[in-house]
Amino acid sequence: MSIDSFEASRKRSDEIRADLPVHPEKYTMLTGDRPTGRLHLGHYFGTIRERVALQDLGIATRIIIADYQVITDRDTTEHIQDNVYNMVVDYLACGIDPEKTIIFTHSAVPALNQLMLPFLSLVTESELLRNPTVKSEMDASGHALTGLLLTYPVHQACDILFCKGNIVPVGKDQLPHIEQTRQVARRFNERYGHVFPEPEGVLNDAVEIPGLDGRKMSKSYGNAISLSLTAEETAKLIKKSKTDPDRMITYDKENRPGVSALLTTAALCTGRTELDIAAEIGDGGSGALKKYVTESVNEFLAPIRERRVQLAGDMDYIKDVLHDGNRRANEIANATLDEVRAAMNMVY
Ligand code: TRP
Repeated sequence: MSIDSFEASRKRSDEIRADLPVHPEKYTMLTGDRPTGRLHLGHYFGTIRERVALQDLGIATRIIIADYQVITDRDTTEHIQDNVYNMVVDYLACGIDPEKTIIFTHSAVPALNQLMLPFLSLVTESELLRNPTVKSEMDASGHALTGLLLTYPVHQACDILFCKGNIVPVGKDQLPHIEQTRQVARRFNERYGHVFPEPEGVLNDAVEIPGLDGRKMSKSYGNAISLSLTAEETAKLIKKSKTDPDRMITYDKENRPGVSALLTTAALCTGRTELDIAAEIGDGGSGALKKYVTESVNEFLAPIRERRVQLAGDMDYIKDVLHDGNRRANEIANATLDEVRAAMNMVY
């Protein structure tokens, strides 16, 4: 995406952010996650915390657990079910309230998936091939380009538009998908009459959350602190993280990625700045730094983990939450599909 259009998205996003508390009733938020593993601190600071804030502003909030998106680039559904249930546990432990927020999965909402057919007719092969996020995911996957990987941004348009979502909190990498969603909505409305809003991305302003090695926090890099780890597991993981022999602790992302990532982790968990923490540790070395980071992370996560353990002890409740979310999502999706059929003159 060009710098100009990124700046335009950022500006639009800031305007919406300012309007959210003023007119919460104007907005429906839809966002989601692929159930490929447990949620970690990167998810928490990058998006979960914001979803809770939007929910608590009274904005209609919907969260999709994107199970069909998992098979865009892998050949098995192993672990998906377990990951889905655990994702619900993570959401609730972080403060998502199932009374206010609809939590649901792709595979349980047929009418959402049916939107894919008219929507696919609105995009061309070259537009699909041009999506930079799809391209980099394809390169990273080491997997042949499946039809689903190529078309999943259109499927994501179904996720957003089935509930007429008009705001989508996302990271930068998802902006091309929002653009494709807007295009699908616009073309549908032009061809068949107005049914869909043109949703806007709400960019998270948090810096990219570094993993323990300074790269983006991601389960696939093995550098993530999952919410579901115990305090001891967290301590072990932080202890193993790679720093450098310089005892003087300084914040220098370029030259000291390990030390700086630890500082940022502690900064996010304590609300202090990296510089402040570095100054306090001074020449205490990475041992003292790691001790401080471990304490900050464990203290921050303690209430979330406590709720997590409680929730995970009542899987029947977790399944009820998901069933109820799926039921409500189906009601919305069926109503939207009815409108789509009517607009397309396909009511028999
Ligand atoms: N693609 C998103 C991710 O990998 C997950 C997702 C699925 C999503 N459907 C969505 C995000 C709809 C926003 C809107 O994180």
